Amino acid sequence: MNLEDYRKHGKEMVDYIADYLGDIRSRRVYPAVSPGYLRNVLPASAPVDGEPWEDIFADVEKCIMPGVTHWQSPHMHAYFPALNSPASLLGDMLADAVNCLGFTWASSPACTELETIVMNWLGKMIGLPEDFLHRPGGSGGGGVIQTTASEATLVCLLAARTRAIRDVQENDPDCLATEINSRLVAYCSDQAHSSVEKAGLIGLVRMRYIESDSELSMRGDALLEALTRDRAEGLLPFFVCATLGTTGACSFDNLKEIGPICQQNGLWLHVDAAYAGSAFICPEFRGWLQGVEFTDSIAFNPSKWLMVHFDCTAMWVKNSQALHRTFNVDPLYLKHENSGLAIDYMHWQIPLSKRFRALKLWFVIRNYGITGLQKHIREGVRLAQKFEALVLADARFEIPAPRHLGMVVFRLRGENTLTERLLKKLNSRGRLHCVPAALHGKYVIRFTVTSTNTTNEDILKDWAEIRSTASEILDATQLPRARVPLADTRQKNENFGSSLLLANSPMSPKIVNGSFAAIYDTADVFEECMKAFGKIHLEAKDSPAIRRRIRGILMSGKQFSLDSRMDLVQGYVCSRPLSDSPSELPLMKEDEDAGLCESDVDTPDESDNGKSIVYKNWEDSDSSETIKRESSVSKSGSSYIVANGSFVNVGADDNGDNTVTIASANVGFPRSETIAAFGHRPYTGDLEPVRVARKKSLKRNEEDNDKKEFCRKCGHYSKRQ
Ligand SMILES: Cc1ncc(COP(=O)(O)O)c(C=O)c1O
Repeated sequence: MNLEDYRKHGKEMVDYIADYLGDIRSRRVYPAVSPGYLRNVLPASAPVDGEPWEDIFADVEKCIMPGVTHWQSPHMHAYFPALNSPASLLGDMLADAVNCLGFTWASSPACTELETIVMNWLGKMIGLPEDFLHRPGGSGGGGVIQTTASEATLVCLLAARTRAIRDVQENDPDCLATEINSRLVAYCSDQAHSSVEKAGLIGLVRMRYIESDSELSMRGDALLEALTRDRAEGLLPFFVCATLGTTGACSFDNLKEIGPICQQNGLWLHVDAAYAGSAFICPEFRGWLQGVEFTDSIAFNPSKWLMVHFDCTAMWVKNSQALHRTFNVDPLYLKHENSGLAIDYMHWQIPLSKRFRALKLWFVIRNYGITGLQKHIREGVRLAQKFEALVLADARFEIPAPRHLGMVVFRLRGENTLTERLLKKLNSRGRLHCVPAALHGKYVIRFTVTSTNTTNEDILKDWAEIRSTASEILDATQLPRARVPLADTRQKNENFGSSLLLANSPMSPKIVNGSFAAIYDTADVFEECMKAFGKIHLEAKDSPAIRRRIRGILMSGKQFSLDSRMDLVQGYVCSRPLSDSPSELPLMKEDEDAGLCESDVDTPDESDNGKSIVYKNWEDSDSSETIKRESSVSKSGSSYIVANGSFVNVGADDNGDNTVTIASANVGFPRSETIAAFGHRPYTGDLEPVRVARKKSLKRNEEDNDKKEFCRKCGHYSKRQ
C-alpha cells in the first residue's frame, strides 16, 4: 500500500470507525463465540504473498468483529470503563504516524516536554499538592505517563524497596540488599487489585492484606496493628498501597488515617486510584483525596473514565530521585548534551521506550475542557444513581455495599449461587455484560456505567433484562420469597389491610402471602398467581369444608381477600368438567347433610347475551362505603373465574383455546390488591375450562350485601347500622 492508497483507505477506515461507534448499540455487547473460534476461520500460516487491502479489510467484519466484546457499547457494564473519544483517536493517529520514542529528552523533545506539561495540567485538575508537579529545572516531584496502573504500582513498589534498602544500609552498610529484601513487608487492603499482589510477587516481598472494615475501607488502626506485629517479629514494613475506588465495590481506603501512620513509620505510601481518579476533576468527589499530602505517589487511569483511550496511566511522585535510583542505567548511546538538565523519562519507568501518549491526553483535555470532562463524569454518576434506585425498589435484590461514583454492586437475596446463575445467564444472552466480585464472602454483580453512549433508556432496558432473568432463575429454583416484616409491609403499602392475613385458613392455597401481594410488583404477583392456578388444577382437592367455605365467601363478599379468591378458584377447578348442560359446584352427600339442595344453585340465564360476566358500578369509595354490583353471567360455553375484582375468561368453547385472558375491571381498588391490573399479559398455562354460573345466588348475595357496609380496607361486609 502506498501513501495514496493509505489516503484513500485511511478515509474509509475513519468512516468505518465512525459508523462502528455510531451504531454500536446494534451490536451484541458480549460475543457468542467459544475459545478457538478464530482458529477455525483464519489460516494457520501467514500468506506468502501480500494480499489486497480490500480482502484484509473485509475480514474485519467477517472474522474479527464476531469475537469482539464491545467496550464502547451502552450495555457494557463489566470491569471499569475503557473509553475513547474522537479527539483521543485522532491524537493516537498522529502519534502512531510520528512514532517517536521518548526515552530521553533528546530522542524527541516535544514528546517529553508535552508530557510534563499535560501531567501538570492533570495534576492541578484533580487537586494534587504542588509537590507532585514538575518545576523548571527541578529534580523533585512530577508526573509521568505509564502504560497501566499495574505498572505504576510496580514502579512505586520497586522505588520504595530501593529507598528501604538504602535506609537500612545507611546504618548497616554491610547488610546485603538480598538479606534486607527478604525482611521487607508491603501492605494493602483485602480489597486491593490483584496488580498489587503481582507487584509484591515481582519485587519478592511479603504482602500483608489488611482486613477492610464494614464499608470495605482499610483503616489506620488495622494497618498500625499489622505494622507493629511485623516490627516485633523483626520484619521491615516499607510500602503501603491504598486504593481509592476498589475494583470490587469502588470503596475507598481511609487516606486521612493511613497517611500520618505511613509518614511516622517511614513507609512509602502509594495511592492506586485507577478508576476513581478521573472523578477527582470534580471538586465534590475530592473528599476521598484528603490525606494525599502524606503520600509518596499516586496513579490513575485517564484511559478508564476520562475518554483517553488505552493506554494512558497518569502517575505522580513527590520525589523522582527514588525512581532515578531504581531505574537508572546510563549507557553511552543514551547520553546527550542535555543529560541531567532535562527530564529523561527512561529513568521513571521500566521500559526504555515511550510512546507519544501525551498527544491524545492533550487533545482530549483541550477538546472537552475541564467543564466538559466534569460534565461527562457527573453524567456517569447520575446514571449509576438511577440504576441504584431501580435495584433498591425491587425487594428481591440487595446492594451489599454503598454505591460510589459510577458503580453499583448488587445481588439477589439469598444464596450466592442464585446471583452467580443470574450473571451467567445475563452474559450468555449477550444483551448486557457484567462481571462479578466477592465482597466479604458475598457474590455480587458489578454494574459500572462505562460508555459515553449510555442513556436513561439503556439503563431501564438493562434493568428490565436483569429483572426478567432474575424472575426466571427464582421461578426455576422455587425459592421462598424473602420474608417482609409486617411493619415494613404496611409502610410500603398504606392500603394493605388485614384481610390478607385473616384469610389464614389451613384450607387456603397459600400461593401468595399477604406481604407478597402488598409490596411486590404487579407483574410478579400475576406470574405467581398464574403458575399457582395451573398447579391448583393438578392438585385441587374437593372437600365439603372447601365447598362450605366457598359458599360462605360468595355469600359474605369475602372475595376481596386474596386467599379467598384462591379458594374460589379451587372450588371452580373442582367443579364438574364442562358439558353441554350448565355446570355448577358438584353437590355431594355432605352438602345435603349441611342443608343445601340442588335448587339452591342456579343455572346461567341463557337470555344473557354478554360473552363475559361483568360486574358494573364498583364505586370507588372510602372505607366502609357501600359497593353496588350488577352482574351479567356468561352465555353457556364460556367459562370464567373471578380474580380480584376481575373476571378471568378461561377458554371459551367457540375458539377451543385454553388461553386465559383477564378482563381488567377497573374497580378502583388499590393496585396491589387488583390482579386485574395484569390484563394485558396472556397466560398460556394448562388450565382446563371451568364454569362459573350462579346468577341467582349472586343476585341474592347482592341483595344481602346491599344491606351491609363494605369495608374497603379489610374486604368484609358488616351489618349496616
Ligand atoms: C483499583 C485498580 N487498580 C489497578 C487496576 C489495573 O489496571 P491496569 O489494567 O491499568 O493495570 C485496576 C483495573 O481495573 C483497578 O481497578
